[in-house]
Amino acid sequence: MNETNDPRQPQVWVTGATGLIGGLVVQTSARFAAGWIVRPTTRRQFDLADSRSMAACFHQERPSAVIHCGAVSRPVDCEREPGLARRINVDGTRFLAELAAEIPLIFLSSDMVFDGRKGGYRETDAVNPMSVYAETKIEGEQLILKNPRHAVVRTSLNYGASATGNRSFNEEMMTAWQAGKTLSFFTDEFRCPIPAVVTSRVLWELLNQGATGLYHVAGSERLSRWDIAECVARRHPGISAPRTAVSRVAYQGPPRPADTSLNSSRVQALLPFPLPRFSEWMADAS
Ligand SMILES: NC(=O)c1ccc[n+]([C@@H]2O[C@H](COP(=O)([O-])OP(=O)(O)OC[C@H]3O[C@@H](n4cnc5c(N)ncnc54)[C@H](OP(=O)(O)O)[C@@H]3O)[C@@H](O)[C@H]2O)c1
Repeated sequence: MNETNDPRQPQVWVTGATGLIGGLVVQTSARFAAGWIVRPTTRRQFDLADSRSMAACFHQERPSAVIHCGAVSRPVDCEREPGLARRINVDGTRFLAELAAEIPLIFLSSDMVFDGRKGGYRETDAVNPMSVYAETKIEGEQLILKNPRHAVVRTSLNYGASATGNRSFNEEMMTAWQAGKTLSFFTDEFRCPIPAVVTSRVLWELLNQGATGLYHVAGSERLSRWDIAECVARRHPGISAPRTAVSRVAYQGPPRPADTSLNSSRVQALLPFPLPRFSEWMADAS
């Protein structure tokens, strides 16, 4: 982590630094954040619902930029506690955006803002939330995009290892498999998964370029849930990964978008490296 205390270097806050993406943003800073002092923020500094502690910390530290990864990030948690989801994802984001009104801020949003009827979504496509999580993300986006200094990054399923070992979709899958569970995966639900380390690199690139506005940041390959599970299982040949292919046709749970694949060509035009095809990245990494 680049955290030398040189007062001439600008400081960047990374909120949600104990999480999957925030943790990797901090970890990758040594390679991609030259010139920044990186300040990971967690609940120890302030709770995102506590505007007074947040403001006190902000006025004391006077960061020059913010990468805002802190959130109630699991849709199931948002459905269970919609009030909390709103306090953190909307109100907490508003407090932070107000404090950071004069500096760059990048807010993390999600492909789940779309209803999934179309797929291949561009930044200009209309959003239509199907969950509390998506509603809070859309509200967060709208308030962030009022400030021309700020940016929104909508990403998709992020693959990676979190410090706590239980944050990413692949960690959840591995935990279930290691407990001997058989998992079912849709063959007709589509996403554009991306390694969290790549998302982190893109975030640094956007900050360093002073990019503002709305960007889709996802892998360049549209894969079904079943294909994604295949990639994860192949990446870990040592474990038994019992799985069943199923169709959404028989699904009876809460509404979920069928195809939230993202077109990331807008951000790709700014990047000095290609956004990876997930299956190739997973095969290369093993
Ligand atoms: N991972 C993905 O696949 C994915 C996909 C699309 C969008 N996103 C978005 O990307 C962002 C980062 O996601 P992630 O996967 O890194 O999430 P994550 O692993 O769940 O991490 C969330 C972070 O927010 C912190 N946090 C939650 N409530 C807080 C509170 N009240 N006060 C202070 N900190 C709080 C957590 O702290 P604790 O550890 O203390 O709980 C944690 O550090 C989120 O906005 C998420 O919605 C993620």
